[in-house]
Amino acid sequence: MSRAVTSVLERNVEPPGVDIRGAWTEAFHNVRAETERRAAPLSAEDQLVQSMADTSPTKWHRAHTTWFFEQFLLKPHAPSYREFDERFGYLFNSYYVAAGPRHARPERGLVTRPDAAEVTAYRAHVDRAVVQLLERADAAALAKITPVIEIGLNHEQQHQELLLTDILHAFAQNPTSPAYDSGWRPPRCERGNDAVDLPAGIHSIGFGGEGFCFDNEQPAHQVLLREGMIGRHLVTNGEWLKFMADGGYASHDLWLSDGWAKVEAEHWNAPNYWREIDGAWFTLTLAGLKPVDPAAPVCHVSYYEADAFARWAGKDLPTEAEWEVAARAGLLADAFGVVWQWTRSAYLPYPGFRAAAGALGEYNGKFMINQMVLRGSSLATPAGHARASYRNFFHPPARWQFSGLRLVDYR
Ligand SMILES: [Fe+2]
Repeated sequence: MSRAVTSVLERNVEPPGVDIRGAWTEAFHNVRAETERRAAPLSAEDQLVQSMADTSPTKWHRAHTTWFFEQFLLKPHAPSYREFDERFGYLFNSYYVAAGPRHARPERGLVTRPDAAEVTAYRAHVDRAVVQLLERADAAALAKITPVIEIGLNHEQQHQELLLTDILHAFAQNPTSPAYDSGWRPPRCERGNDAVDLPAGIHSIGFGGEGFCFDNEQPAHQVLLREGMIGRHLVTNGEWLKFMADGGYASHDLWLSDGWAKVEAEHWNAPNYWREIDGAWFTLTLAGLKPVDPAAPVCHVSYYEADAFARWAGKDLPTEAEWEVAARAGLLADAFGVVWQWTRSAYLPYPGFRAAAGALGEYNGKFMINQMVLRGSSLATPAGHARASYRNFFHPPARWQFSGLRLVDYR
């Protein structure tokens, strides 16, 4: 989202020379088009599949992000709006209890109707209504609707990332290892294994600037960092291969009890999507099955694996505060755009956090239990979506995201 749009929103006034409706309309079109661009390589069959309860079909992502605008923007703010199909609220509400009953999450892949083409028509219907709402809004109406459009666009960007992580998981179930995009290439990364001093002392973390943030990034508050060294670089596949060769997946004493239970139950012996073929390791990427590059950052590891690796290395995962302070100081290479980085911070409310009233208050706050924070962003995160204060969160066994790690050393 452009700074012009966000600064206009902050002030809720239209500065001279700024076309506020045009800026929001352009931002809306750009984000909506990116979702369709990501879905374009996928057939209707691809778009239906749901390979586990944690993932969703592409078609569902396309429809759910559209329902979000219908439910939270058009129904409250566009009195003449007619729903595309009144059954879609039940099908495409994800977890908003205040928005009414909803279809069971693990059964999203069983919904063959509406088909992908009908979802395309649903998106076009809602797009027209949103643009019309923007065109006709006076200044007072704009002040009410633009915050909803802004969270709707940030929400859709989150689903753009999930669209890719979820289809990769689906393709991983296919013995032919399909490619989402045979021309896809991994992001370039800085090489090395340097560590840099953490700035010890009192620092502020959390979002305190202008523009958009999610509620879980606030309130900004002070934290105390102890002395230590944080990895400038991400942990690589080559380092992970040493962990594996040293019996990392066979040594119970390296693992948390819950993690070891996963190793045993699911026979983990390498990161997710790794396959050993004739003595060589390959991994499923968006471009299909590729040899594991020892110099590339390790990807598709769970919190349990990251934690065990840190213990094996005689180091620790950073806290989210250490990560944020180091990122703001420019100490981290590849902080963004490669892999989300596990921290050893539980996903908890910041001191003084209160979820907003109403259905959108369900966005983040009610998930602040039993999950761990990841920082940065990944190769699948849309450009401009993440920031230093951004808090991603997943359950400790999750390994289908583009998730890796860097280490901290307190000795
Ligand atoms: Fe959602």
